[in-house]
Amino acid sequence: MSRLNNRHIVLGITGGIAAYKAAELVRRLKERGALVHVVMTDAAREFITPLTLQALSGNPVHSSLLDPEAEAAMGHIELARWADLLLVAPASADFIAKLAHGQADDLLSTLWLACQSKKAIAPAMNQAMWADPATAANMDTLRARGIAIFGPGAGEQACGDVGLGRMLEPGELADLSESQFDSRLLDGKRVLITAGPTREAIDPVRYISNHSSGKMGYALARAAADAGASVTLVSGPVALATPAGVERVDVESAQDMYDAVLARSAQSDLFIGCAAVADYRPATAVEQKIKKQADEMTLTLVRNPDIISAVAASPDRPFTVGFAAETQDVLSYARDKLERKGLDAIIANDVSVAGIGFNSDQNEVTLVTAASEEALPRMGKQQLADALIAHLAQQLGARR
Ligand code: C5P
Repeated sequence: MSRLNNRHIVLGITGGIAAYKAAELVRRLKERGALVHVVMTDAAREFITPLTLQALSGNPVHSSLLDPEAEAAMGHIELARWADLLLVAPASADFIAKLAHGQADDLLSTLWLACQSKKAIAPAMNQAMWADPATAANMDTLRARGIAIFGPGAGEQACGDVGLGRMLEPGELADLSESQFDSRLLDGKRVLITAGPTREAIDPVRYISNHSSGKMGYALARAAADAGASVTLVSGPVALATPAGVERVDVESAQDMYDAVLARSAQSDLFIGCAAVADYRPATAVEQKIKKQADEMTLTLVRNPDIISAVAASPDRPFTVGFAAETQDVLSYARDKLERKGLDAIIANDVSVAGIGFNSDQNEVTLVTAASEEALPRMGKQQLADALIAHLAQQLGARR
């Protein structure tokens, strides 16, 4: 996985014959894990259809500044903020002139002015247009503003001329886009996380479950994705949106979660068991709804498999991290669990304290390993998740 994994790229396409290569560029960027939104000028739409770019990017193509529906879905300012990199490829001579002069008379040029992230252009034009002093002066202006310039290359041109002005190949543009970013803590790593509660069926309409909201696991998934990892989130039923760039596998029961996790754990570098897995399930899930009859009824429960212990005991085990929610002697119970389950690290939290842990937006934990203890004070779950991922990435690096 590349440094482009989970990076947000807005690809602006302007009108020129090289626009057909933009389709391939979207594929190259997506292959490296980037999330791509495409913006097309009117002229670009004469060369390549929005439908092609929509299919390849997996997102609706943005074209008009004045389309209320598109603006309601993702307005131009929102799109400008979303971008980690705004790349215009191909950038025509005309569009380069617009950028040099700060014009904002269509969606792409407006976005360019509104975007404060990294910006790059891949010029593509006839060699005489590239050599023209007006273009050269515009390029000097953009260079002086710190815009990254990708190309152009030299060679045979669509018009039959030979010289400078060819857009670089999509693979080269993807390499150059990647070079704009620093490496992150979990680049190239695969992270598997469980989150939320499980549901253990009593009959077709009833189940045993718990109050886990899934917030901590989802925050960890997001933090890991932001740190460059490829993240799979195996989730029990929760009311949360999937973080961008995260693959989510929905499960219900502990057994489903066990199967989904064990099918993936050997391919993972880091496993975090954040789910509140039900320890027991009804011995038999009755096929028909149970009718009320006697004043008392007895449910026989049997133990569920311990998912994290199974991961820790598997041959190709990832760095395995569990949670210990305790109400007393938190650290000693956590240490005991660390050893008993064969974990590399455990995140201990005191759930007897009001306002943290289960279902709340804040948490306060201690990250415990065989050799260390790191107390992380009370903070929002996302901030805490970011801090935990930074610590775990460090330990993962030290282990390898
Ligand atoms: O044993 P206890 O439930 O306190 O351990 C909590 C840790 O073990 C958490 O990381 C939880 O996700 C994991 N666990 C599991 N499978 C179970 C029970 C707990 O993976 N059946």
